[in-house]
Amino acid sequence: MKLCVAVLLFYMFQVIHGQPDYQGFISIDCGIPLNSTYQDSITNIVYVSDYGFITTGENRIISSDYMEPSLAKRYSNLRFFPHGPRNCYTLRSLVMGNKYLVRASFYYGNYDGLGKPPVFDLYLGTNYWHEVNYSDAGAFNWMDIILVVPTDYLQVCLVNKGMGNPFISGLDLRPLNTTLYPEVNASQSLVLVNSNRFHMGPTDNSIIRYPSDPLDRIWTTYNAIPNCTKISATSPMHNNLRDVYDVPPSVMQNAATVNSSRIDFSWNPSDPSANINSKYFFIFYFAELQHVPSKAVRQFDIIVNNKTWNSRPYTPTFLFANYFSGVVQGMENYSVSLVATKNATLPPILNAMEMYLVKPITAVATDPEDAARAMMAIQDNFGVVKNWMGDPCTPKTFIWRGLNCSYPPANPSEIMGLNLSSFGLVGAISTNFRDLKA
Ligand SMILES: *[C@@H]1O[C@H](CO)[C@@H](O)[C@H](O)[C@H]1NC(C)=O
Ligand SMILES: *[C@@H]1O[C@H](CO)[C@@H](O)[C@H](O)[C@H]1NC(C)=O
Ligand SMILES: *[C@@H]1O[C@H](CO)[C@@H](O)[C@H](O)[C@H]1NC(C)=O
Ligand SMILES: *[C@@H]1O[C@H](CO)[C@@H](O)[C@H](O)[C@H]1NC(C)=O
Ligand SMILES: *[C@@H]1O[C@H](CO)[C@@H](O)[C@H](O)[C@H]1NC(C)=O
Ligand SMILES: *[C@@H]1O[C@H](CO)[C@@H](O)[C@H](O)[C@H]1NC(C)=O
Ligand SMILES: *[C@@H]1O[C@H](CO)[C@@H](O)[C@H](O)[C@H]1NC(C)=O
Ligand SMILES: *[C@@H]1O[C@H](CO)[C@@H](O)[C@H](O)[C@H]1NC(C)=O
Ligand SMILES: *[C@@H]1O[C@H](CO)[C@@H](O)[C@H](O)[C@H]1NC(C)=O
Ligand SMILES: *[C@@H]1O[C@H](CO)[C@@H](O)[C@H](O)[C@H]1NC(C)=O
Ligand SMILES: *[C@@H]1O[C@H](CO)[C@@H](O)[C@H](O)[C@H]1NC(C)=O
Repeated sequence: MKLCVAVLLFYMFQVIHGQPDYQGFISIDCGIPLNSTYQDSITNIVYVSDYGFITTGENRIISSDYMEPSLAKRYSNLRFFPHGPRNCYTLRSLVMGNKYLVRASFYYGNYDGLGKPPVFDLYLGTNYWHEVNYSDAGAFNWMDIILVVPTDYLQVCLVNKGMGNPFISGLDLRPLNTTLYPEVNASQSLVLVNSNRFHMGPTDNSIIRYPSDPLDRIWTTYNAIPNCTKISATSPMHNNLRDVYDVPPSVMQNAATVNSSRIDFSWNPSDPSANINSKYFFIFYFAELQHVPSKAVRQFDIIVNNKTWNSRPYTPTFLFANYFSGVVQGMENYSVSLVATKNATLPPILNAMEMYLVKPITAVATDPEDAARAMMAIQDNFGVVKNWMGDPCTPKTFIWRGLNCSYPPANPSEIMGLNLSSFGLVGAISTNFRDLKA
């Protein structure tokens, strides 16, 4: 027995740099000393250094003016990239075609003394993820993306666009069951631009994440419903949405309600790069938390921008979660109303919600089977050569020096030629060159 526990603990805390841990998590605290690790005191997640994920960039500590005792260790340091237009983290040992949540975290904390957070772009491999433009130097921000990975590795690239050096404070990867977030597939991903994933817990600023949420999504308290009161379940919630959104009972067990017949609030993307074409995917979660007396009725309509989402008057089920979801587009503000029906005797409630930016996946990377894998192996053999970072051929502006690529429309790029004559390479010729079939 003791031996089993010891063995289990060994596996839990043995961290191989550059690899997912025993539950498939990758948790990088960017900017900590190379090869160091520690266990986060709140989540018990073991965080590792950048070693094995990236070879470029430099570590920095945030300004002491922004160092607070309550600040998570993750945010007290960062890695920044003074050189090159594109710097990439490579997350390996993934399962091709599986779904993952990737989260990049940022806390500027005036680490460079310039007093001005940079603006830069994030890419996932060759696909544009989002612009990073958080103007508050003392706020921690994160951006999530839920996606299907096209290969068994994923590159997260920070692209300098002439508005300051890109930096990053943390990078997390969490595997998701393929049934989860069915809107996410090979041609469409969901991006959480700001912290738009909310629970209705009674205390402000309380965060729910791992281990309460086994998927380690971050849920923050929503406190913008006017005049609302918070109610809680006294009995345990059923975890019945496991196959779709797997919202944990700890999120569903609180709800906001009002002392009137309607809940009204508005939501805007608070995203400087949002425009009229930006599509958002909303999910609202409901569960009855109170014993409703036999003569009482809780019944309401879910109305988003004057459009009713429920086909019949909706009554939440006692301790069972339900959801309504939909895509909205083209507004500056999205208005949400939960309106009690004529027959209702109890006010509407709301337990949780998520608002994602819908992101089509269009760019086609270098053929992974052929070129990309071989080139990365060659790059590993020789160390970082010139601008060899990210996908070898795409985007075209970031093509690796010395390569010639083909760009057939709608098909993966292929490497057609290679000229390494002035690279000063020495040693045996890598067998990986054999895999460059084109
Ligand atoms: C980190 O660990 C690797 C593998 O154990 C080792 O090769 C490397 O020298 C270490 N780097 C530092 C800075 O300790
Ligand atoms: C960054 O955001 C600010 C507002 O927060 C906006 O004024 C500015 O134009 C944005 N910059 C870029 C390059 O998008
Ligand atoms: C994924 O789904 C399978 C089958 O439905 C289940 O056995 C497994 O526990 C799920 N994994 C997670 C992490 O929820
Ligand atoms: C992905 O989902 C979108 C929206 O549900 C759908 O239009 C598209 O055809 C799907 N793509 C694939 C490859 O399944
Ligand atoms: C909130 O309550 C106050 C005081 O009862 C009232 O004056 C105000 O109109 C209410 N606001 C909303 C949005 O219902
Ligand atoms: C609800 O509102 C009514 C009338 O505005 C008031 O009499 C009652 O005390 C309120 N109840 C609660 C729980 O706030
Ligand atoms: C909803 O309808 C009202 C009245 O018809 C209108 O004034 C309002 O602008 C509409 N709101 C939206 C978001 O469409
Ligand atoms: C959007 O909502 C904000 C805050 O509620 C408000 O200040 C702003 O005027 C609204 N904009 C539009 C276009 O309705
Ligand atoms: C409201 O209650 C009446 C009387 O019980 C019933 O006939 C009617 O169908 C109810 N309406 C809805 C929308 O449930
Ligand atoms: C790339 O292609 C161009 C034009 O076909 C050719 O001139 C050049 O030598 C090639 N370079 C390499 C590295 O193969
Ligand atoms: C290969 O690169 C070297 C140095 O950049 C250049 O002198 C030579 O002409 C190139 N060869 C071809 C075939 O492009």
